[in-house]
Amino acid sequence: MSLITLGIESSCDETGIALFHSERGLLAHTLHSQIALHNEYGGVVPELASRDHVRHILPLIRSALLNAGCTLDEINAIAYTQGPGLSGALLVGASVANSLAYTLDIPTIGIHHLEGHLLSPLLSNPKPTFPFVALLVSGGHTQLMRVDGIGRYTLLGESIDDAAGEAFDKSAKLLGLEYPGGALLAKLALSGKAGRFKLPRPMLHSGDLDFSFSGLKTAVLTLTQQHQLDEQTRADIAHAAQEAIVDVLAQKAITALGQTGLNQLVIAGGVGANKLLRERLHHDINKRGGSVFYPDLEFCTDNGAMIAFAGAMRLQHQEAQHGYRFNVKPRWDLQELNYTD
Ligand code: KG4
Ligand code: ZN
Repeated sequence: MSLITLGIESSCDETGIALFHSERGLLAHTLHSQIALHNEYGGVVPELASRDHVRHILPLIRSALLNAGCTLDEINAIAYTQGPGLSGALLVGASVANSLAYTLDIPTIGIHHLEGHLLSPLLSNPKPTFPFVALLVSGGHTQLMRVDGIGRYTLLGESIDDAAGEAFDKSAKLLGLEYPGGALLAKLALSGKAGRFKLPRPMLHSGDLDFSFSGLKTAVLTLTQQHQLDEQTRADIAHAAQEAIVDVLAQKAITALGQTGLNQLVIAGGVGANKLLRERLHHDINKRGGSVFYPDLEFCTDNGAMIAFAGAMRLQHQEAQHGYRFNVKPRWDLQELNYTD
């Protein structure tokens, strides 16, 4: 029997909605980004985020239905991001999902935001097959995971301090770029000169698969204090910062493939949109006979499609709830999701 899952993402500063059909795939997805709203504060303001989700969530659901040529009655289940994330923001998605499902008498399913990112490359073509190694690189997380199937995740290593996205954003801020600065820093780096500055590669030789990025921000700060920040110097620093982050991510990802004996790497999360990271991994992994998979660019950053898709996958394992009692989980360990059989 074919099933249509409505997906709702509202964990941070994007309201994302999508409709996923179990046989036809993604029918529609709509997104509202709050970047402009939080810009002047230099970071996400949780209360403003929640209010903005309230403003946009229903119109976005309506337009997703319209784009898909679907009515509410045709939806079979609703998947929503249950955590981790900002509690107020999560509550908006959870309450809309559960009240809508209650009125339609269909089940809901709470999805872990990182599981959404982790599975998002399966929405693309070509797609990986289980098992694979996933490098999850978002604004809040940097993790290497072994993925043996839906609900079969093993953490191989993670950042002990800042996430890779944070390292991009904090370096960008020091260079006077707007929040979130990852993509802007990458753009500025294009006109930077290679080799003028060399930044540290923390924990590169630590022997494990953990990361540390907080020292990099300090090193960038020192450079910005030591030099006159003309346009070329800013670009040269951006170039060095991007090189350092990408170098560590790529080398650790390759080590993870070596340690697990697997040959497929999946990149997920917002930093996965970084062109240098993509080129570097493509080059290094092809050289060793492996393959690297990315979500389509629009599904790298937060979106509803990955939640609808993860929901549809989980529904095959009969996990949906009819109780409509929801508890959001602002902190939630991905490994808690693992099936025990
Ligand atoms: O996955 P995501 O949309 O949100 C979280 O769940 O955190 O990731 C957002 C992060 C931000 O830190 C942003 O600066 C970074 O992804 N990002 C990039 C690029 N595009 C987005 N970082 C480097 N290069 C990019 N092109
Ligand atoms: Zn995310």
